[in-house]
Amino acid sequence: MTAPEAPTLIARPCFQQDLEVVQLIYAHHVLTGTGSFEIEPPSLEEMTARWSRIVGAGWPFVVASPRSDLSRVMGFAYATQFRDRAAYAHCFEVSVYAAPTTLRSGAGSIMLAHVLAGLRDDGVREVLAVIGDSANAASIALHRKLGFSHVGVMSRVGEKFGRPLDVVIMQRSLAPAKT
Ligand SMILES: CC(C)(COP(=O)(O)OP(=O)(O)OC[C@H]1O[C@@H](n2cnc3c(N)ncnc32)[C@H](O)[C@@H]1OP(=O)(O)O)[C@@H](O)C(=O)NCCC(=O)NCCS
Repeated sequence: MTAPEAPTLIARPCFQQDLEVVQLIYAHHVLTGTGSFEIEPPSLEEMTARWSRIVGAGWPFVVASPRSDLSRVMGFAYATQFRDRAAYAHCFEVSVYAAPTTLRSGAGSIMLAHVLAGLRDDGVREVLAVIGDSANAASIALHRKLGFSHVGVMSRVGEKFGRPLDVVIMQRSLAPAKT
């Protein structure tokens, strides 16, 4: 019997030296897509500040890399407390972006699964995806695949590229980590 093949991609922590590629990936999606409601891509300095805040809070920020080349960054994902107010302490929002050259190769799934496992270990109970554009089939399908359910749609709350955009809310409950 042959051993099961190890996955070719892994999710690993995002380090500061990864942020140049992270910034480029995000800039691509800001400039060409509707998943993010930002219009101007944040600078490397701004992305560094966002990453510092997230990792400084002890929240997950990961990248996907081929197992054979851990310096290569194929996407990034992170989680933040949904809102700052204290009663939201166990509710987080996830964000996930794959490099345009590696779409549909499993990076999004691996990163999101890793982030969810980390959140569960940290006692997070509810996870939200706030997805730009109800036509964002890739993101909606990715979150459904990872166990999220459709909660609702905020209609026409954004506008980008001259068209009104919905926001789709999806949610997943996390079972407590086994001790
Ligand atoms: C959403 C996104 C992160 C998915 O990343 P990815 O690495 O391509 O995802 P995966 O390869 O792991 O695909 C996982 C599942 O998502 C779904 N999916 C991915 N791309 C899809 C597409 N173009 N159309 C329909 N479903 C798609 C499929 O169900 C897929 O599973 P399968 O390949 O077993 O059928 C990527 O498309 C992306 O960066 N989109 C733009 C940014 C964005 O909208 N991010 C989300 C903000 S909330």
